[in-house]
Amino acid sequence: MKKTAKTGTNLTTAKHLLEQGKIVAIPTETVYGLAANGLNTDSVAEIFRIKKRPSFDPLILHTYSFDCLTNFVTSIPEQARLLAETFWPGPLTLVLPKKDIVPDLVTSGLDRVAVRVPNHPLTLQLLRSLSFPLAAPSANPFGYISPTRAQHVADQLGDDIEYILDGGPCDIGVESTIVGWEDGNAIILRVGGLSVEAIEKVIGKVQVQAVSSSTPAAPGMLKSHYAPGIPMVAGNIDDLLQEHTGKKIAVLSFQKAYPQVYKNVILSENHSTIEAAKYLFSAMRELDQCGAEIILTEFVPEEGLGKAINDRLRRASF
Ligand code: TXA
Ligand code: MG
Repeated sequence: MKKTAKTGTNLTTAKHLLEQGKIVAIPTETVYGLAANGLNTDSVAEIFRIKKRPSFDPLILHTYSFDCLTNFVTSIPEQARLLAETFWPGPLTLVLPKKDIVPDLVTSGLDRVAVRVPNHPLTLQLLRSLSFPLAAPSANPFGYISPTRAQHVADQLGDDIEYILDGGPCDIGVESTIVGWEDGNAIILRVGGLSVEAIEKVIGKVQVQAVSSSTPAAPGMLKSHYAPGIPMVAGNIDDLLQEHTGKKIAVLSFQKAYPQVYKNVILSENHSTIEAAKYLFSAMRELDQCGAEIILTEFVPEEGLGKAINDRLRRASF
C-alpha cells in the first residue's frame, strides 16, 4: 500500500509506530537510518523489502549506551571497550559475537552483530524510550547515495514509510567506521566518519580491510554502492574535462572552482576533509539531478575523513 511519509520531530509518534512494528526514518550524526525494532523479525524483513536490500547484507543495531551491549553480545574485547568509551555516542560501529536474542536476519546468518550508539539528541532520546534496539541501514534504496537530510529520505522512500523523524542535516555526512576483531586483532571493516588516525591513537596500529566486491560479508563493500544515476568518473579533473569535451558536465571538486562547466559544487573551499565529508552525499545528489550528462570528480587527500570520502567516490564512480 502506498504511504505518504509525514516529516516531523514528534518522538511520541516515532515511538508508537516503532512499537507497532512499523518502519521510521531516524536522523543520526552520520546519515539517516531506516529503523525498525531490531528484535522483531517481521519488522526487520520489512526494512530489507523497502530498501530492496539483498538478505546477505547485514544490519547495524542501534542502542543508547555501552551498558546495553551486554544484552546483545556474548563478549567484549578490551579494545572494543576502550573504543566505545572514547567514541560513543559517535560514528563507530563494533562487530561482536552475538547473543541468540538477535535475529539471524539482522546479521544475515553471521555469528556476529554490528552495534553502535549514534550521536544525535533526538535519536538518543527515542532509543532511551524504547524497550528494544533499532536495526537501521542507511535510509536509501540499496546501491544509491545515503541520505543526509530528511528531504533525501522523503524523495526516495516517502511512499514506503509513514514517518520521518527530522533531525536536520547530518553533522558528519558519511557512514560510521566499522571495526571487528579477527584472532584478537582489530580490523577496520569499513572506513567512515571516525578517522583511522583517531582509532589508532586509542588502540594502536590497526589493519584496514581492502575493498572487496566479491565478499559481501565485508561491510558495505559491494562495488556499486553509493552510486548516482548518471555516470561519475574520478581522476584529474583537468584531464577528464579534455576527455569529455562536448558533454554537459557537472564537476564535484574538492577546493578548486570550475566556472566553465554546466554545474560545479566545491566540497570545501578551506581544504577540510571534515567539511567535505559533511556535504559529499548532498552534493552528489544535487549534481545527479542537475541535468548534466556526467559528473567528473577528484580524490581528496588520504588523511582524516579523506579515506572515507575516497572510498565512497571510488565505489560511486567507474
Ligand atoms: O553510519 C551508519 O553506520 C549508518 C547509520 C544509519 O547508523 N548505517 C549504515 O548502515 O551505514 P548500512 O546498513 O547502510 O551499512 C552497514 C554495513 C553493511 O554494509 C553491512 O555489511 C555491515 O555494516 N555489517 C552489518 N552487520 C555486520 C556483521 N555482523 N558483520 C560484518 N559486517 C556487518
Ligand atoms: Mg548503506
